[in-house]
Amino acid sequence: MRNYYIAGNWKMHKTRAEAAALAGELVSGLKDGKHKYLVAPSFTLLETVAPLVKGTNIRLGAQNMAAEEQGAHTGETSVLQLKDLGVQTVILGHSERRHLYKEDDALINKKVKLALQHGLEAILCIGELLEEREAGKAEAVCERQTVKGLEGIPASSLSGIVLAYEPVWAIGTGKTATPEDADAIHACVRNVIAKLYGQAEADKIIIQYGGSVKADNAARLMSKENIDGALVGGAALKAESFVPIAKFG
Ligand code: 13P
Repeated sequence: MRNYYIAGNWKMHKTRAEAAALAGELVSGLKDGKHKYLVAPSFTLLETVAPLVKGTNIRLGAQNMAAEEQGAHTGETSVLQLKDLGVQTVILGHSERRHLYKEDDALINKKVKLALQHGLEAILCIGELLEEREAGKAEAVCERQTVKGLEGIPASSLSGIVLAYEPVWAIGTGKTATPEDADAIHACVRNVIAKLYGQAEADKIIIQYGGSVKADNAARLMSKENIDGALVGGAALKAESFVPIAKFG
């Protein structure tokens, strides 16, 4: 049985005071929540949010990480620095990293491996562009991103991996994939995992959906067999919109 995993990606939002207020509201709003939870604030907010979520049922995540452990990489943030702040999870390969900052599958794979090496959980994001969907290539794109993102990762490390399917055309647009369309891609990705690692691993892996998840569509999405959680952007910025998603049903 897979446990639902609901994550909030705060993207490039909030000051320290705003982040502390939201984290406090989430800690109290989710304390009786039954699922697995995560918040991923900007790097500059991690030190503020870390003590507030420590020891609660909310994990601390980062939104990105350098592909190298340390060194001359101006503007980058190291896995060692994230761990030093208490970060437990890192979101990698988000579509904004892939498309706005030109991160490719090889770079993302390097980051995923480094995160796992250091004991961080990695949320590997995949998802097609609108033109790829319209050209009938959604499944092929998601398969490629999954296979390349996981290259060289043994089955013994797969428990540290979460997948997040985020169709790029659904992110921040108010357009959600229908639960059926999302589930079809999730099933396809689960099948890719089965081919790579066997059916038992495929049955275990958590695949989140992301893209305009809101309180009023969360339960329908989560009711689908292959949708195991959500990676929430806009609606994660307020407790009043995130808590009902996190406690869907
Ligand atoms: P929205 O929920 O704002 O569409 O963002 C989804 C997302 O990109 C989460 O990582």
